[in-house]
Amino acid sequence: MSGSAHKKRLAILISGRGSNMRALLDAVYNPLAPVPVTTAEVVAVISNRADAAGLGIAQQFGVATINHPSQGVARDVYDAELHRILTDLRVDLVCLAGFMRILSEKLVLDWAGKMVNIHPSLLPNYKGLDTHARVLANGGVEHGCTTHFVTPGMDEGPIILQAACPVLPGDTPDTLGGRVLALEHQIYPETVQLFCQDRLRIKNGRVEILDLPAVKN
Ligand code: GRF
Repeated sequence: MSGSAHKKRLAILISGRGSNMRALLDAVYNPLAPVPVTTAEVVAVISNRADAAGLGIAQQFGVATINHPSQGVARDVYDAELHRILTDLRVDLVCLAGFMRILSEKLVLDWAGKMVNIHPSLLPNYKGLDTHARVLANGGVEHGCTTHFVTPGMDEGPIILQAACPVLPGDTPDTLGGRVLALEHQIYPETVQLFCQDRLRIKNGRVEILDLPAVKN
């Protein structure tokens, strides 16, 4: 195992279908996955919605699921409990994967450098929702996705990895979104693998990707 003495303990936060969560679980638990994550275990998949389809997928992987419903709960109360859950589980990295709830500044700062997100655009372009439709409405010729560390500003944290694809004639939000989603499923596991190998450093608000240490004979 490179870098750290123990497997990194991941928590994945979802609200819905969980395709990025599935890509991460596959990367961690299937050695033949296209981008394996070799030094991690997923200690919980946490959803703020009991009906999130991703919860069933996580259970198929044998991963613990936690239903932490958010409807009608004040943000500070919700986030304090979320912080307690993550701390009790000794989580090293929180992966937001379609978690459709804004987190409080306090929680984000408490997990600074230990919380990542995936966003379906080439940040800093197209922060927020409905990115595929907005790219098409603007006549964009290129689109993509970004992984980044989470900071208090929405979709603003230091960028880790990006992947781009062309916008094709006749694209709809669905066709374009499908092409972007396939890229998300590649760069999210790559991002988590880099974190688990201790290869990500934030310096002056930017991410540096460190080389793997040379193998000693
Ligand atoms: C993805 O497009 C992701 O980039 C965004 O929310 C969507 C979640 O999709 N943050 P899924 O639940 O991972 O399929």
